[in-house]
Amino acid sequence: MDPNRLKDKNILITGAAQGMGAANAEYFAAQGANVALGDVNVDGVNEVAARINAGSGGRAIAMKLDVTKRADHTAAVNACAEEFGSINVMLNNAGINKPRMFLDIDEDNWDQIMDINAKGMLFGMQEAAKKMIAQGPMEDHPYKIINVGSIVSRTAFLDVIPYSCSKYCALAMIIGGAKALWEHKITVNGYGPGVVHTELWKQLDKDLVEIGMFKEEGQSLETLRETMILMKKLSTPDDVKGTAAFLCSSESDYMTGQLIMIDGGIIMQ
Ligand SMILES: NC(=O)c1ccc[n+]([C@@H]2O[C@H](COP(=O)([O-])OP(=O)(O)OC[C@H]3O[C@@H](n4cnc5c(N)ncnc54)[C@H](O)[C@@H]3O)[C@@H](O)[C@H]2O)c1
Repeated sequence: MDPNRLKDKNILITGAAQGMGAANAEYFAAQGANVALGDVNVDGVNEVAARINAGSGGRAIAMKLDVTKRADHTAAVNACAEEFGSINVMLNNAGINKPRMFLDIDEDNWDQIMDINAKGMLFGMQEAAKKMIAQGPMEDHPYKIINVGSIVSRTAFLDVIPYSCSKYCALAMIIGGAKALWEHKITVNGYGPGVVHTELWKQLDKDLVEIGMFKEEGQSLETLRETMILMKKLSTPDDVKGTAAFLCSSESDYMTGQLIMIDGGIIMQ
């Protein structure tokens, strides 16, 4: 690995206190990136930043960022630019899931998921783009906005329909955002993980038992591993971080409007 692959990148990551957001932050910093980490879990994001700053790569700052609040995004992009000189990559990673059988989806379930996963992403894209536009185009490279999608950006399952809707939104904002923002030399891409064993999935596994989809904990993951994942292996954030780093790096400069699946062979198209 080129230790300086992300040296010139100042990257804001939402939902960076744990899971893929935290793993990506540490991986990016190890390749020289400066990372601004936002999350509703302030203690968590401070710990990730402290680990990074104790290492030998790029630097990290941490802040409270609730993605449903536009003002938090504005403050975060400004903090990133003040600390590191600019923001040149925005990674919209924060997301939640809460399964419900179709007839049990209520307004709260829909609103909570769509507010964080879809509206929060829109705000992140807009506030990052406004700052990038104000900074003026970079000489050699485009700015980059990266949206975290999912396998359910391209299909849907019966028990997570609002989540799937939110991840279709991520895809719509990748394609529409790419068209809207290229005039400002901003690319928009994303990646779609499959089944990643993070806190999100640990809770999802419990919730799927609670709504009656599976009989006992662990069964959902084992069933998906066996029946859905071509590689027959659950993934960890380590399986995903290389694709995320590629999208942040200049190696993906000639690419926009794309959602790359990184799912062990679930969705193929
Ligand atoms: N785990 C998977 O299998 C999987 C698969 C496909 C896509 N994804 C997506 O990847 C992303 C990261 O997921 P993960 O598995 O690492 O989850 P995770 O639960 O481990 O981490 C998500 C982070 O987002 C933060 N967060 C929640 N609400 C927030 C808000 N309002 N504002 C700011 N931060 C908030 C949480 O505090 C947490 O630190 C999400 O967008 C998720 O939908 C996950």
